[in-house]
Amino acid sequence: MTTSFPEHKNDLLLKALRGETVQRPPVWMMRQAGRYLPEYMELRKKYTFFERVETPDLACEITMQPIRRFGPDAAIIFSDILVVLQALGIEVTLNPGEGPRLPDPVQTPERALSLQVPDVHDRLHYVMEALTLTRRELNGEATLIGFAGAPWTLFCYLIEGRGSKDFSRAKAFYFQHPKESHHVLSVITETTIAYLKAQIAAGAQAVQVFDSWSGLLSPEDFNEIAFPYLKKIAEEVTEAPLILYPKGSWYALEALAYRTKASALGVDWCITPEYAREATRNEITLQGNFDPSRLLSHPDDIRKQVHRMIDRFGPQRYIANLGHGILPFVPVENAGAFFEAVKTWEPNR
Ligand code: CP3
Repeated sequence: MTTSFPEHKNDLLLKALRGETVQRPPVWMMRQAGRYLPEYMELRKKYTFFERVETPDLACEITMQPIRRFGPDAAIIFSDILVVLQALGIEVTLNPGEGPRLPDPVQTPERALSLQVPDVHDRLHYVMEALTLTRRELNGEATLIGFAGAPWTLFCYLIEGRGSKDFSRAKAFYFQHPKESHHVLSVITETTIAYLKAQIAAGAQAVQVFDSWSGLLSPEDFNEIAFPYLKKIAEEVTEAPLILYPKGSWYALEALAYRTKASALGVDWCITPEYAREATRNEITLQGNFDPSRLLSHPDDIRKQVHRMIDRFGPQRYIANLGHGILPFVPVENAGAFFEAVKTWEPNR
C-alpha cells in the first residue's frame, strides 16, 4: 500500500541532514511535547501516559501542540523509547513523578536468552498509525521525526527495571553474562531496525536513535557494547536520514561520523562546538547542544546564547537543538525565545 502525503513545504531539516546549503539552521527541541506545556498538562489529567502513547489521535494531538505554539522545523512523534520493551513482552509502567518501572525486569541469563524479535507491525501498530495521522496533520510545514532508543539504553532499563544514576545492575549483568547480554542487544537491534523501517514507511521523514546512557560506558566498553549495534542500525536503516544521539560519548564522535552511515550526530553541552566540529572534521551534520538548564535564563540571555551557539557551530550542516530534553519547569516563554532566536539568526548581526 502506498500512502500519499501533503507536499513538503519546509525542508530545512532534510536539507541540513543532506548537507545542503540553508539560509538558517533548522530548529527543534528534544522532548518538545511535554510537561512544560499547559495544553499537555490538560491532557495528562484525563489519560494515563500509555493511553496517550497508544491512542493515535492523542499522540498526534500532543505532537502537534509545540508545532502550533512555536512553529519549529521538525515534529518528533509523541511516544517513548520503552514501547520497544513492551513489544518484547516486558511490562512497563509509568506513574507521574516516579519515572518508568518494570515490575519484572530481566535478571537471569536464561530469561535473557529467551527473548525473541517480535512483529513490530503487530505490537506497535499504534505508533505507525500516529505517524501517518501526524504527517497529514503537519501538512508539510514541519519534518516528521520518528525515533527509537539505542540497544544499550534499552538494555539498561530492561535489566535495571527503573531509571538509575549509574545503571550498575545493568552493567554488572553485562560483565557477568556477556554472551546472553549480546543476545539481548541483538534482539533489540533487530527489533529496532524493523521498527524504524516501519516508522519511515508510515510517514517518518527522518529518525533519531537515543543512546541516553551511552556516557556511562568507558570508551572500551562503548566500542564493545554500544558501537557495533549503532553501526548496524545505521547500516540497515537507509530509507531516511538517521540521527544518532550518544549522550556523553564525546570520545566516540569521530568513529560515529566516519565509521557509521548516520546522517547526523547529536551532541550534549559538555563539549564545545569547536571540539565537536574538529572531532568530526566538519564532515557530518551536528545537532545540539544548548544546556537545557540554560532555558531558565532570562529570554534576552537565551537569545544571545542561542545566536552565539549558531555562530560557533556555523549555520551549515547544523541543527539547532538542546543537548538533552527540555526540563518540565521551563517557562513556555523561554522555550519560545529559543525557537525565535534560531529563526531570527543572521550571519552579520
Ligand atoms: O521529544 C519528544 O517530544 C518526543 C517524546 C519522547 C518522550 N520520551 C515522551 C515522554 C521521547 C523522544 C522520549 C524518549 C525517552 N524516553 C528517552 C530518551 C531520551 C532522553 O530523554 O534521554 C528515555 C530515556 C525515556 C524513558 C522515559 N520516559 C523516562 C526516563 C521518563 C520519565 C522521566 C520524565 O521525563 O518524566 C519517561 C516519560 C516520558 N516520556 C514523558 C514524556 C513527555 C513524561 C510523562 C509524563 O509524566 O507526562
